[in-house]
Amino acid sequence: MSESLQFIIEPGGRLQGTLRVPGDKSISHRSIMLGALAEGVTEITGFLEGADSLATLNAFRAMGVDIEGPEAGRVTVHGVGLHGLKAPGAPLDLGNSGTSMRLLAGLLAAQPFDTVLTGDESLNRRPMRRVTEPLALMGAQVDTSPDGTPPLHIHGGHRLHGIDYAMPVASAQVKSCLLLAGLYAEGRTCVTEPAPTRDHTERMLAGFGWPVAVAGRRVCVDGGGRLAAARIEVPADISSAAFFMVGAAIAPGSRVTLTHVGINPTRIGVINILRAMGARLALANERTVGGEPVADITVEAGPLHGIRIPAEQVPLAIDEFPVLFVAAALAEGETVLTGARELRVKESDRIQVMADGLRVLGADATPTEDGMVIRGGGGFTGGRVDSHGDHRIAMAFAMAALRAAGPVTIDRCENVDTSFPGFVALAREAGLDIRAGHG
Ligand code: S3P
Repeated sequence: MSESLQFIIEPGGRLQGTLRVPGDKSISHRSIMLGALAEGVTEITGFLEGADSLATLNAFRAMGVDIEGPEAGRVTVHGVGLHGLKAPGAPLDLGNSGTSMRLLAGLLAAQPFDTVLTGDESLNRRPMRRVTEPLALMGAQVDTSPDGTPPLHIHGGHRLHGIDYAMPVASAQVKSCLLLAGLYAEGRTCVTEPAPTRDHTERMLAGFGWPVAVAGRRVCVDGGGRLAAARIEVPADISSAAFFMVGAAIAPGSRVTLTHVGINPTRIGVINILRAMGARLALANERTVGGEPVADITVEAGPLHGIRIPAEQVPLAIDEFPVLFVAAALAEGETVLTGARELRVKESDRIQVMADGLRVLGADATPTEDGMVIRGGGGFTGGRVDSHGDHRIAMAFAMAALRAAGPVTIDRCENVDTSFPGFVALAREAGLDIRAGHG
C-alpha cells in the first residue's frame, strides 16, 4: 500500500490573525463552465486552484476550450459558445469532484458527441441516478454502472426537451445539472427543490445574461439563448473559512478575522448554527461582488452549548457538518442532528466516519441513520483518526487538536488539496501546531 499523507498536530494553542482562505469551490467550477460556453472572454479572479476545480478546468481544455492560467487565482477563458465544444479524445477524469461530474453530466448530455466521465475511488462510489433519471426524462441517454455509480457513459446527439421536475433530495448539484441541460433543451426546464440549496448557478447564469425565473423554490430556464462573457470575482469559500471559525470558537484566547468570505444566504448555515450554539461571531464590511454577497467574519472563543439543529439549516450547512460535529463535541449539553442522510453519500460517509473519529478522541457521539447525537463538554484525548480520504474530515479533526490532551494524528489527508490548497501553511500561520508527513 502506498504511504498516506498524515497530519500530525500538537495539542492546544489558539488561533489568531486576519486570514483569507482560498476561493469558493462551487463558484469556481461554475465560472469555468459558463465561461467556456459563453461568447467572448471571461476573466476570473480568486479562482480556487484546488484539484476539484482544476478537474473542471482540465475537462474543458480537453474539449477544445482555450483557458489561460490559473496564475495567482487569475484565469482567462476564451468562450466557444454554447455549441463550440469538441469531443474529448479520452474519458474525462474528474478525480474526487462530485460537482464536476454531476454538473457536466447535464451539459454534456446535450452535446452532439459521446463522453465518458470517471473519477477516483470515492467519486466512483457516489450515486448518479439522481442526475441520470431526470436527464432521461429530458430525452438524454446517460448510462451508469449497474449500481447507479460512475463511470457515466453519455450518449450525444439526443435532442433534449424541457421538463418540470420536483427533486426528491435537496441538491444544488442536481438542480444545476438540469438547468445546464435546460440551456440546450427545447422549451422550458423547471426544477423545484424540497428545501433551498445553494443558488450560485442561478446567480451566475443571470450574470452571463441568461434569464432565470425564480419563484419560491421553483427555478426555470428557457432553452435556446446565448451566454455573454463576464468578469467573475470569486469570494473566499465559507466552507473553508468554517474550519477557522470553529477553531477560533473552541480554542480559548482565539480571535480570527476571515476576509472577503462569501455569505450567500444559501450557504450561511454554519454561521446560523454556530450563533445558535452561542458562538461570538460578527460580520463586517458587507458588500456584493459579482452578484454574490461577501463579508469579513470575526470569531472569538467563548462557551458553546448544544442545540437541536433546525431542519431548514441542514442544506445551508451541508458541507460544514464535519467541523460542526467537532464544535458540538465541545459544547455543553446535547446536540442533535436529523434530516441529514445526504451526509452518508458525500466524499465519505460523513456520519459514520466522523462518529468513529470523535469516539477515538474520547467524545460521546452516536451516529443515527440521518444524523448524529453528540453529548458534549470537556475536551478531546489525543489519538489517531482516519479521514477516509475526505478533505473536510481531515481539516475538521485538525481543528479538534486545539482542545485535545495529546497529539492528534490524521491519516489519508492527501485530498485536502481538492478544496483547500495551502491549508497546513495557513493553519500554522494562525497558530495551529500542525505538520504534514508520510506514514
Ligand atoms: C455543491 C453542492 C453540494 C455540496 C458540494 C458542492 C455544488 O452537493 O455538498 O460540495 O457546488 O453544487 P449537493 O448539491 O449534492 O448536496
